[in-house]
Amino acid sequence: MKRILITGALGQIGSELSVEFNRRYGVDNVITSDVNNDVHGAVTENVFERLDVTDAYALERVVKRHKIDTIVHLAAILSARGEQNPDLAWKINIDGLLNVIRVAMAQRLDRLMVPSSIAVFGPTSVLYDAPQETILKPNTMYGVTKVIGELLADYYYKKSGLDMRGIRYPGIISYHTMPGGGTTDYAVEIFYEALKSGSYTCFLAPDASLPMMYMPDCVRATAELLEADPAPLKVHGGYNVGAMSFTPEVLAAEICKYIPSFTIDYKPDFRREIARYWPASVDDSAARAQWGWRPEWNIETMTRDMLTNVAAKLGIDFEI
Ligand code: NAD
Ligand code: SER
Repeated sequence: MKRILITGALGQIGSELSVEFNRRYGVDNVITSDVNNDVHGAVTENVFERLDVTDAYALERVVKRHKIDTIVHLAAILSARGEQNPDLAWKINIDGLLNVIRVAMAQRLDRLMVPSSIAVFGPTSVLYDAPQETILKPNTMYGVTKVIGELLADYYYKKSGLDMRGIRYPGIISYHTMPGGGTTDYAVEIFYEALKSGSYTCFLAPDASLPMMYMPDCVRATAELLEADPAPLKVHGGYNVGAMSFTPEVLAAEICKYIPSFTIDYKPDFRREIARYWPASVDDSAARAQWGWRPEWNIETMTRDMLTNVAAKLGIDFEI
């Protein structure tokens, strides 16, 4: 694995994953791409290609031009935006994915990583310690596209030997780039509002328990799975990975330890219905056994780090 293309590289995860990849593989071996190049948090040190993944020819040209052998395909429409525009979610998440798979097979790439999500679960899934293998009948278009993505990964792995890997990311919390329109975005917004105004109106219910992960664990998990020995890997669509699980009221109480005057109120919107059928926690024993997954961050350490770094970003004097 020498030459990596990241699609959707200017988003919440890509903007930080590219930095970790630069450290591991060298800046010259990491090509970043996105449909836009004017997004906050843009990566400047890598070669950047403006690339729409729904344009199969442009994608193939970029792969050939840079002699790419690995793609990490992050370009996607997330859950809340996907419910607002299901056709767009299908176009980017399925048509774009099929373009990437076809190029990966045609150019005989070594490896293709495509994230999945906790959104693959749904009303008929087991939602506490959600198993790796369970009924996956989501009730969002985003979830539908992620289940199809997992099935395609299994299919092309078995049919053509394409080395596809994926993680069912929980809600990712970070301070570098804002999240891109998901149901778990509240767990990032809350830190900005706590520091700026001392209060936050949450769009989920107070007791909506969801699995979450801090960005340093997310980028490490992604790099570790990408580098893992293929032999023990039995899952190609998406591994469950656990780190922490909490509700908005538990996160608010954690923030109150450092900002005692902080208040939260609740005005649930359509995202409440999305969160209702996502798991409260996941069983990640397959990831632990097959590639050694271990989280390092919990709600306490994440909250301290988020408050410190968001305050610095906002130029607010704040000490823990
Ligand atoms: P994001 O929305 O922050 O970033 C996605 C990027 O894709 C954006 O920069 C956007 O400009 C780009 N993009 C959109 N359409 C494109 C197109 N046609 N061609 C090329 N680029 C395009 O998303 P993210 O949070 O960084 O998510 C990355 C991946 O991880 C996605 O597959 C997402 O479903 C998955 N995921 C994320 C989370 C999370 O909490 N962030 C959780 C579960 C799964
Ligand atoms: N964080 C993502 C979302 O809310 C989960 O896939 O859409």
